[in-house]
Amino acid sequence: MTPVAPVRPQPRAAILEIDPYVPGKSHVAGLDKVHKLSSNESPLGPSPKAIQAVRALADRLELYPDGASTALREAIGRRYGLDPSRIICGNGSDELLALLAHVFLHPGEEGLYSQYGFLTYPICIRAAGGVPVVAEETDRTASVDAILEKVGARTKIVYLANPNNPTGTYIPYSEVKRLHAGLPEHALLVIDAAYAEYVTRNDYAAGLELAATAENVVMTRTFSKIHGLASLRVGWAYGSAHVIDALNRVRGPFNLNGAAQAAGLASLDDAAHIEGAIAHNTCWLPWLTEAAAKLGIEVTPSVGNFLLLTFPKQSGRTAAEADAFLSARGFILRAVASYGLPDSLRLSVGGEEANKGVIAALAEFMRGEGG
Ligand SMILES: Cc1ncc(COP(=O)(O)O)c(C=O)c1O
Repeated sequence: MTPVAPVRPQPRAAILEIDPYVPGKSHVAGLDKVHKLSSNESPLGPSPKAIQAVRALADRLELYPDGASTALREAIGRRYGLDPSRIICGNGSDELLALLAHVFLHPGEEGLYSQYGFLTYPICIRAAGGVPVVAEETDRTASVDAILEKVGARTKIVYLANPNNPTGTYIPYSEVKRLHAGLPEHALLVIDAAYAEYVTRNDYAAGLELAATAENVVMTRTFSKIHGLASLRVGWAYGSAHVIDALNRVRGPFNLNGAAQAAGLASLDDAAHIEGAIAHNTCWLPWLTEAAAKLGIEVTPSVGNFLLLTFPKQSGRTAAEADAFLSARGFILRAVASYGLPDSLRLSVGGEEANKGVIAALAEFMRGEGG
């Protein structure tokens, strides 16, 4: 008898075309102590004020949080000089990046992103029923010309991570403005500035001014990186009133949990902690860059809190072998083959012990010892 296929609910075909996002590894079997340098987390952790705020909340877990994250939005507004009614908080900026596609892409319309752009963009676009369109990069950096060449009548959303993950590269604000100027008014430019706080270049800006003045620009930010709150999931977006209004209609009614709101609020109140995290990165990013380059590893110049390391293709020195070698010694980096970068690994800036240790291990690997 021919087997009869069971009748069961079917997801839309586009959903099954999505390759699920694979986060950085956290563990190595058999090792108790590891240095997790795979997810661009803050080696300094959160502000003690944020920890205190979460502890204080433990006595009130039966209460729903403020669904509108009012106090947090007001504090972000004060910090950056923004109208809080044009800010929306999200369960991580991931949530907002996804909602933007759901809200602004009609089925079959195009969402654009650059070649090595953050991998959640194609997921967001596909999940919304849209068609992902990729623009080539130049020197692992987004190219405004290449993006504009791909823009057409069907383009409704353009994601730009600036700086970009996993490359660490950025485009100057003048280029972001040129990109915006070249987009049709119906296309929404999403500037994902998750790593903005780390950038120390004069020609960089996160996009506040464009998001404040243009109807078709929204900027997303996160508390996961510089604020060290990745576990709690706190992100936010700022844009024109009609964009924020649309997002507010579809977000979960209590999308930001109480601990996330309290910790976000408290960490904004700890300028010294944020300054410390910036100073740490400003010291160790160039140190790691130079040290890795001296070992014969190609390092893509980064302005974030991580580095893209590219290994030789020669057997015994490849990225896959380096990944295994480092993992066995307790250093977890991020393989980025899923980004089309099979010869590279991404290394997050860690604490002093991790940074010195990973460079020592890489030196051993590149000398061909202990393999
Ligand atoms: C470029 C970029 N955007 C957004 C995110 C997501 O951040 P969140 O933790 O706020 O969801 C990340 C996290 O790695 C990122 O690298």
